[in-house]
Amino acid sequence: MYDVAKIRADFPILNRHVNGRPLVYLDNGASAQKPEAVIEAMNRVYREEYANVHRGLHTLSTLATEAYESVRAKLARFLGASEEEIVFTTGSTEGINLVSYAWAAPRLQAGDEIVLSVLEHHANIVPWHFLRERQGVVLKWVECDANGDLDPQAVLAAIGPRTKLVAVTHMSNVTGTVVDVATICKGAREKGVAVLVDGSQAAVHMPVNMAEIGADFYAVTGHKLYGPSGSGAIFIRRERMEQMRPFLGGGDMIREVTRDAITWNDPPMKFEAGTPGIVQQIGLGVALDYLQSLGMENVAAHERSLRDYARARLGGLNWLNVQGNSAGKGAIFSFTMQGAAHAHDISTILDKRGIAVRAGTHCAMPLLQHFGVGATCRASFGLYNTKDEVDALVSALEFARELFG
Ligand SMILES: Cc1ncc(COP(=O)(O)O)c(C=O)c1O
Repeated sequence: MYDVAKIRADFPILNRHVNGRPLVYLDNGASAQKPEAVIEAMNRVYREEYANVHRGLHTLSTLATEAYESVRAKLARFLGASEEEIVFTTGSTEGINLVSYAWAAPRLQAGDEIVLSVLEHHANIVPWHFLRERQGVVLKWVECDANGDLDPQAVLAAIGPRTKLVAVTHMSNVTGTVVDVATICKGAREKGVAVLVDGSQAAVHMPVNMAEIGADFYAVTGHKLYGPSGSGAIFIRRERMEQMRPFLGGGDMIREVTRDAITWNDPPMKFEAGTPGIVQQIGLGVALDYLQSLGMENVAAHERSLRDYARARLGGLNWLNVQGNSAGKGAIFSFTMQGAAHAHDISTILDKRGIAVRAGTHCAMPLLQHFGVGATCRASFGLYNTKDEVDALVSALEFARELFG
């Protein structure tokens, strides 16, 4: 049974008050809170087991290396991949930049194309713009519809003879749209085109499996997965890894260095230079254990019921415009209020009532341009949120509406 009260007790920060009111944390799309188990594990490593990894033969280094490397296996299980296909990163931004630098840059010529959807976060836009600026790569955009839905066939139809890569999100961080990435990957593969899927949001809210999705690259970020900031990984399909140059140069990613030459370590180490986020990744491993103990199917079911409830309650506010209302979306709602109230003002009023939402462009300016809005408020739900918190949000919005007239 999914006992949300018990789950909430695992997250110390949820006990606190903000501006004299119990915290209602609805900014999970930006970053999620951490369970005690993660906080405690990180403390314990620093107190009892900390040393650098892969470098020492002494006991502490061995313990730290074992704990750190065990997370690669946990990530592989979580993503339905094999350990050799998991590259540790500091988050999705680094993972996508890694692919851009180490796979795409040496391969794409001027006039080659990357197909992108308008739903993308800047992390899955800007690295491709770099290739446009430096190498004359062409970005081809695919629009979503008014509900925020992205037709996978429209993505496949955008693939032309010069397309080398499709870069697409699995779940929008603005609308919660879930994209049928398996259909996109299958169709792209038939055309010999690689697909990078940004799983930053999807992997937090539903089970994901690399064998079923069929992506070449799949980025996840630890701090949204209830783990520490500075942790994360990118899944890279084995065949792609073999085609790739290293990303950053330094210790750990090499086998041998002489004055005249270098040889690289085997993947995935080839892509991991320097001292990594040892304790962060160990913390992420504990967060993955926590998610596994709840069951991703159960998390997804809880969030679907929150989504349906929030959709009904927010839908009842006829002065609120929710951007994109796709049927199978995640529990993420971006909205504006009719009239003069700016998203920043609304979020300030909500904050006074202890409610944390994000206001702004959510690192997704092309999508906001598509919807014709300058800024929105976003309420994004997580595994510990409740229907009472949806009610608190609605009542605070009604208060803001009265205030702004
Ligand atoms: C869809 C999506 N992609 C990428 C990112 C970037 O993740 P990070 O900042 O953890 O690297 C985010 C974070 O907000 C996101 O929501």
